[in-house]
This record gives sequence, C-alpha cells and structure tokens, in this order.
Amino acid sequence: MRMRKIGTTGIEASVVALGAWAIGGGPWWGAVDDRQSISAIHAALDAGVNLIDTAPVYGWGRSEQVVGKAIQGRRDKIVLATKCGLWWHDARGPLFFELEGYSVRRYLSPDAIRKEVEDSLQRLGTDYIDLYQTHWQSPEPASDPIADTMACLLKLKEQGKIRAIGASNVNVSQIREYQAVGLLDAIQPRYSMLDRAIEEELLPYCVEQNISSLVYSPLEQGLLTGAIGMDRTFSPGEYRNNIPWFAPVNRRKVLAMLAGWRPLTEKYRCDLAQLVIAWTVAQPGVTFALCGARKPEHSRRNAAGGTLVLAAEDITTMRREVEALGEPL
Ligand SMILES: NC(=O)c1ccc[n+]([C@@H]2O[C@H](COP(=O)([O-])OP(=O)(O)OC[C@H]3O[C@@H](n4cnc5c(N)ncnc54)[C@H](OP(=O)(O)O)[C@@H]3O)[C@@H](O)[C@H]2O)c1
Repeated sequence: MRMRKIGTTGIEASVVALGAWAIGGGPWWGAVDDRQSISAIHAALDAGVNLIDTAPVYGWGRSEQVVGKAIQGRRDKIVLATKCGLWWHDARGPLFFELEGYSVRRYLSPDAIRKEVEDSLQRLGTDYIDLYQTHWQSPEPASDPIADTMACLLKLKEQGKIRAIGASNVNVSQIREYQAVGLLDAIQPRYSMLDRAIEEELLPYCVEQNISSLVYSPLEQGLLTGAIGMDRTFSPGEYRNNIPWFAPVNRRKVLAMLAGWRPLTEKYRCDLAQLVIAWTVAQPGVTFALCGARKPEHSRRNAAGGTLVLAAEDITTMRREVEALGEPL
C-alpha cells in the first residue's frame, strides 16, 4: 500500500481510504448488514488501508458506531476521519435536505461542533479523531462565519480531541477563509474520472498550498468498477438515481469505454476498480481516493488498487478516453 502524508501534519495514511457512507445504510443505499460491514472494514485494514472516513449523518450515527466497533483493539493503527456540520438535532441552520423524517441543516456554529465532536468520540469509542472535517459549508450569506468555525476547530486541536483539520465541499475562497485563521490540512471534494471539475482551480490550489485532498466517489458509486451493468435498476430513493451517469444513455457509453480497457487490466493483472483507483491517485493534487465499500470483497479489491502504479502513457490514454465521453446527457 502506498502511503502519503495529510498536509504538513506528518500523519501517514494509505492512498486508498475506506469510505463508510454506505455502511450507514438507509434509503440512499438500501439494506445493510452490520456484521458484513465490520468484515469489510477488517478486510480493508488487513489489506493495508489505515484511513477510514465516516460522518454522523451516515445512518444517523450508525456508520460511526459500526466503525467504532470494528476498530476496537486496533485504534492506534488507524487514521480516523469524521465530520461535523450536518445538523438534525434542532431547527438551527439553513435546511439542506429531509430524509427519514429528519430535517438536516448546514450548521457549523462552535456550540454545535462542540456537541458533535463529543457525540462522534463516543460513537467511535475513542478519545481523539485524526482528521475532523466540516461536511458542507454554510450557504452564502453564511450564518456561521468560517472564522468562528475554524477558531473552534483549532481549540479542539489544542485540546487533543482532533489532530488535523479538514473541510469538505469547499471552494478556493472558502479555503482562504479557513487559512486566514489557521492551518487547514485537507479538503474532501467530489472527484472521479467522470467528474473532473475540481481540476481547474481547486486541485492546483491545494498543490500550491500543501493541502491534501481526500476525493470522494472516485468509483462513481460503483459504475466505474464495471460491476453495474445495463440491467441493474435502483429503487426510487436510492442515491444512484441522482447521478446522471447512471441514466441508461450515459451508462452505456461508460460501460463501452470500460470494456475497451481490457488490454490495460490484462497488462496490469488488475480489475477495473483497481485501474480506476490507480488512475485517480495519479492525478496531480489527488492525495487519497475515498472508496466506499460495505462488502469485504470490495474492500480487498480496492485496497489492491493502492499498490498499482500505471505508466504515464496509459494514464494519458485513459484521460483521452474519459474526455471523449463529454458531459452526461
Ligand atoms: N464529503 C461528502 O460530502 C461525501 C459525499 C459522498 C461520499 N463521501 C465519502 O466518500 C466515500 C466514497 O464515496 P461513495 O461511497 O459515494 O462512492 P464510491 O466509492 O465511488 O462507490 C462506492 C460503492 O461502489 C460499489 N463498489 C465499491 N468497490 C467496488 C468494487 N471493487 N467492485 C464493485 N463495486 C464496488 C459499492 O456499491 P454496493 O455497496 O452497492 O455494492 C460501494 O458502496 C463515502 O463512503 C464517504 O466516506 C463524502
């Protein structure tokens, strides 16, 4: 497993991280089995993954609890990342979405963060979080100034409750607001070979500033593994229905591209997920690929993508082909 540092912290984490969103279950992901999730986490750890990303909102605490259970006895070997700022405990903060009777708000005021960090520590069964990230930023005009949020996070770091600070779903101007108050170690943006919007401004800025990126949904929720064929359907509430690449007209094009990469998977003796992961972590500014898995087989396979290094000409060929797909219809 290749390892990289989180920002300037000295914390070393695996280039393939385990994302525990699906482990929370719920209508976005459908039924999930906690015992299988724990096996998936153990399989990832046994295969060299040490970075695990979760959040309170993933199953209303369920994902954090399952991760907490899975890492018992191995805590010191793990780089544990979780988040704050998606708030459903009262009506403070602007509404973001509604799900299963909860109104989820974007709320990053210091008093809320102080409660959230204690709740997360308890669910995770630990007394420190390695990387604590704001999940979504307050919409403009911000009700919770980033300066106040960051001051609170710095205080938590001083107290030893968190070791590094990250911000998810941010733009460059929001990063600058964090940096005006203190050191931002990492960001967590959406990025896959099919969704490269952040290459223009965000990733170059992170390279320049030595900020790590944990990119999420690098497998486009499984589409880029080739395992989701044309016949697969998703029930109405499932998250994959929201992703335009899953629409049949677009999915067909992606699957045809992936089928054309057979010579590459043969050359590297790997599967498509591993090829895509290796391509993703080879992109300038991408530090970690946050791959979701709730099945042991998926964690094992994805972890192996973290050992694979592709030749420059293959990276270029793959880029040419994903660019040729254009935007989803
Ligand atoms: N900060 C944010 O706002 C944000 C947003 C989204 C995600 N995230 C983080 O990023 C992580 C990853 O994102 P994601 O879960 O959306 O997407 P992803 O990693 O692109 O896809 C994960 C899904 O793809 C399927 N899959 C994974 N590996 C596979 C393999 N080797 N072969 C076949 N199928 C495979 C699995 O689906 P099945 O389980 O259905 O088989 C898995 O749940 C999340 O878990 C979360 O930690 C953060």
